[in-house]
Amino acid sequence: MSMSSHMGSMASSIVAFVLVLLLPKYLANNNNIGSTSVLNSDVDLLEFPLNLEFLETEFFLYGALGYGLDRVAPHLTKGGPPPVGATKANLDNITADIITQFGFQEVGHLRAIQHTVKGFPRPLLNLSSSVFAGVIKDAFGREITPPFDPYRNSLNFLIASYLVPYVGLTGYVGTNPNLNKPTSRSLLAGLLGVESGQDAVIRALLYERKEMTVEPYNITVAEFTERISELRNRLGRTDVTDEGLVVPIDLGAEGKVSGNVLSANQDSLSYGRTPAEILRIVYGNGNEGVAGGFFPKGANGRIARSYLVSRTAVQMNEAILRRSFLLFLFASLYNFWKYFLVGFAA
Ligand SMILES: *[C@@H]1O[C@H](CO)[C@@H](O)[C@H](O)[C@H]1NC(C)=O
Ligand SMILES: *[C@@H]1O[C@H](CO)[C@@H](O)[C@H](O)[C@H]1NC(C)=O
Ligand SMILES: *[C@@H]1O[C@H](CO)[C@@H](O)[C@H](O)[C@H]1NC(C)=O
Repeated sequence: MSMSSHMGSMASSIVAFVLVLLLPKYLANNNNIGSTSVLNSDVDLLEFPLNLEFLETEFFLYGALGYGLDRVAPHLTKGGPPPVGATKANLDNITADIITQFGFQEVGHLRAIQHTVKGFPRPLLNLSSSVFAGVIKDAFGREITPPFDPYRNSLNFLIASYLVPYVGLTGYVGTNPNLNKPTSRSLLAGLLGVESGQDAVIRALLYERKEMTVEPYNITVAEFTERISELRNRLGRTDVTDEGLVVPIDLGAEGKVSGNVLSANQDSLSYGRTPAEILRIVYGNGNEGVAGGFFPKGANGRIARSYLVSRTAVQMNEAILRRSFLLFLFASLYNFWKYFLVGFAA
């Protein structure tokens, strides 16, 4: 009897040990499922950009008018929380005029996407000046004092705007080849056209002032754009997909000019980015699995959530591993104790 129970506990400890060995492999395989096959439907791909469109809508509307979607078109928020930290910027007339137009254009984009796909509630957005200051700090790799404030004046607001539609634009370029239906591609082409137009206007306004220093820093507009573009390349973990207003001549059009009013590749075609690359940038941390930056609770929709969910899964897996290790330890101790007792008794 003592022999068979001894064998029994021996067996249970072996089972636990094998479980510990096998689990990591099983869990690793499990983790891969989420992000590929299921998520490439037109619906998911068209819903994903809503995140950036919400960001642009709120930033432009608040910057120009001092209020946002909750006042302009509350139904489009689908009940998502109001943005944090957005405020009216101190803009000159022409900038306020242009940014107002951009803000209302973004409202149209939200409506068009939500007509085509179901969409999701507005994610929590953090548009506090300190979030922008954090991006600029990361871009320069050091504190600049006072911290960068996008709402301070027109030039600062344009530099902050340099952060936004361009990321959307590269997302649309990256998404296009993965869409199946003509209606999806037609919507995307319409969105891409206006996003790149907005980016071009912002870049042109900054290009005129590229030699100006951004007060009160002794840093030119051109250098700001270079640093921001480099940061986006770094965070996205890609080769060059982003270029400042002045580039080494080999990156300019046909390798002939260093002026770079538009960012484009060797054939002067727009760069594309994947959703993961975009999330790494807008979360500000280079990791699509960790919410942060402009999206303190993460972006919404199946694509963005799948990255966050798989992180939760990793945490759960770690908990399971810990538990099975404890089980193994317990079984071993029990086994040892029984063996010792039986041996002692005998
Ligand atoms: C800016 O707009 C305001 C109000 O529309 C107007 O009173 C003011 O004269 C304008 N300023 C300039 C410099 O155009
Ligand atoms: C917004 O960002 C700032 C700066 O990182 C942070 O201090 C603040 O807690 C954030 N707010 C929310 C609601 O996440
Ligand atoms: C500003 O920067 C330029 C170039 O880096 C430098 O020559 C100049 O002395 C600086 N001016 C001040 C006031 O720091």
